[in-house]
Amino acid sequence: MTKIPVWMDCDTGTDDAVAIMLAHKLPELEILGISAVCGNTIQDNAYWNTHRINALMGTDYPVYRGAEKPMVIPLVTAAYVHGENGLGDVELPLPEGVAEQKESAWDALYACARAHPGELRLVPTGPLTNIAIAFTKYPDLPKLLHSITLMGGSAGPGNITPAAEFNIYADPQAADIVFRCGAPIVMCGLDVTTQAYFEMEDLDELAASGKSAGTFVKAILMHSYAVLAKYGVKGFCMHDSCPVMYLAHPELFEGEEAGVVVETRGSFTSGKTITDLYSDKQFPFTNALVILKVDREKFIALLKDAIQSI
Ligand code: BDR
Ligand code: CA
Repeated sequence: MTKIPVWMDCDTGTDDAVAIMLAHKLPELEILGISAVCGNTIQDNAYWNTHRINALMGTDYPVYRGAEKPMVIPLVTAAYVHGENGLGDVELPLPEGVAEQKESAWDALYACARAHPGELRLVPTGPLTNIAIAFTKYPDLPKLLHSITLMGGSAGPGNITPAAEFNIYADPQAADIVFRCGAPIVMCGLDVTTQAYFEMEDLDELAASGKSAGTFVKAILMHSYAVLAKYGVKGFCMHDSCPVMYLAHPELFEGEEAGVVVETRGSFTSGKTITDLYSDKQFPFTNALVILKVDREKFIALLKDAIQSI
């Protein structure tokens, strides 16, 4: 089987960590590189957390450092959900003798896209700062990509504000560049990712498997338990696993083509993704497939299998 080449760009992050595990275990996919961006936590944490996940999985995917701050606005993190260290304040030891890459996230991504013209699937699961920097530095990059399948945005309400989803809110200027870039975009926003949740029984099952990855996943997600309960959120949303799963199993998802733009200035709406899905298709363009539904049972079964097999 020819595997689908994937580049992940993560603000690793509890659900980013799970998404990396899923991408590693899905037989349809091959990770070619992972870049780290600030978002859920500072970039240095995201970078080392990605190395920690590599070590937990027994892999050596190359990890690249990316942006330490958003393009224009000040840094916003999500320690209240992901813990101060990004991994629910669970201490996973730093692996020894890690091979550190000297190239930046944007240079490495560009080199990889040039080596696989028209093939590389870009999977951003954090704020889009690294990607926008790469597109600004290398204007031919969007055309070299097969597509961008991202976690971000919402056709409905937000999570960090009533209007905006976190990844877009954390760097709206970068998201604006990405949504205008011309590459095919699959948007896995809150519309679908809030359907892709673990229940407590799923976490108990993972932990009971006795495997270190299962125990670890339950432990890192428990940090957000109190926060989720406070906001009345159903289950533990595996937001970032959605774009990964979509690449290997698009048949589990349903979506609609739409025009999507990003609000970069509004005092109440900054970071909102505005789509013409629910209006009368007024935008004179379609630039994204907006994913709206997932078969939760099949999604969770595949995700649990992946984690349990590490
Ligand atoms: C997104 O924000 C982050 O907190 C998660 O990792 C996910 O990428 C959900 O809004
Ligand atoms: Ca993320």
